[in-house]
Amino acid sequence: MSGPFFARDHYNRLMSHPAPRLEDDVIALRRWDESDIEDSVVACSDPEVIRWIPRIPTPYSEQDAREFLALADNGWEDGRSFSFAITERASGRTVGSVGVTVNGSIGDVGYFVFAGHRRRGIGERALKLVSRWALQELGLARLQLWVMVGNVASARLAEKAGFKREGILRAWMDNRGTRVDAIMHSLLPSEMDGRSDDK
Ligand SMILES: CC(C)(COP(=O)(O)OP(=O)(O)OC[C@H]1O[C@@H](n2cnc3c(N)ncnc32)[C@H](O)[C@@H]1OP(=O)(O)O)[C@@H](O)C(=O)NCCC(=O)NCCS
Repeated sequence: MSGPFFARDHYNRLMSHPAPRLEDDVIALRRWDESDIEDSVVACSDPEVIRWIPRIPTPYSEQDAREFLALADNGWEDGRSFSFAITERASGRTVGSVGVTVNGSIGDVGYFVFAGHRRRGIGERALKLVSRWALQELGLARLQLWVMVGNVASARLAEKAGFKREGILRAWMDNRGTRVDAIMHSLLPSEMDGRSDDK
């Protein structure tokens, strides 16, 4: 079997990949589960998340969280998107979200950290963990992420995690009915070296 957008060996590599447990000293990434629903509703109702991530529905209901869970499960099953809950190892609490969606040999990364847990290096750690895994284990040629113009925190985080700023994509995103510009960033496999444990 081969998906429409993949060479057979690349597709097989994605399909055969079990959900990894990615972790460093402070955080661990794992698949989303039912226990995350309540926290997800609170997290996705945060004005900063609504402001910078237009694809998140507002208002955000328990049903939206359940639909996300189903979507995340499907992504793992068909090997096209990989969504992780970011958990804090010391407390076991879920503190954010990070994921990669694969299109051919390119991966798109998205993330957010729950309000109350920001500015503690969690976003940077999560982005580094998922980037290394996606480039090395999924064998992607390029990882990219775009940030709405004005989202200084996210653009700085991307560069701190090793992504290079490429430029402005005009009218790239639909922000709840308005086309807005975005800043594209990318990370290539050759740029991962030496970055694994530098946080
Ligand atoms: C963007 C976001 C994920 C950052 O997560 P975080 O865990 O707070 O980030 P970190 O603590 O790892 O910060 C890493 C670097 O990013 C930059 N940064 C993070 N938050 C910042 C802020 N509010 N203002 C300016 N720079 C910021 C800093 O350079 C920081 O390094 P430093 O603390 O050593 O100066 C978080 O603010 C968030 O979830 N925002 C709302 C949703 C969102 O914008 N998602 C991204 C959509 S593209």
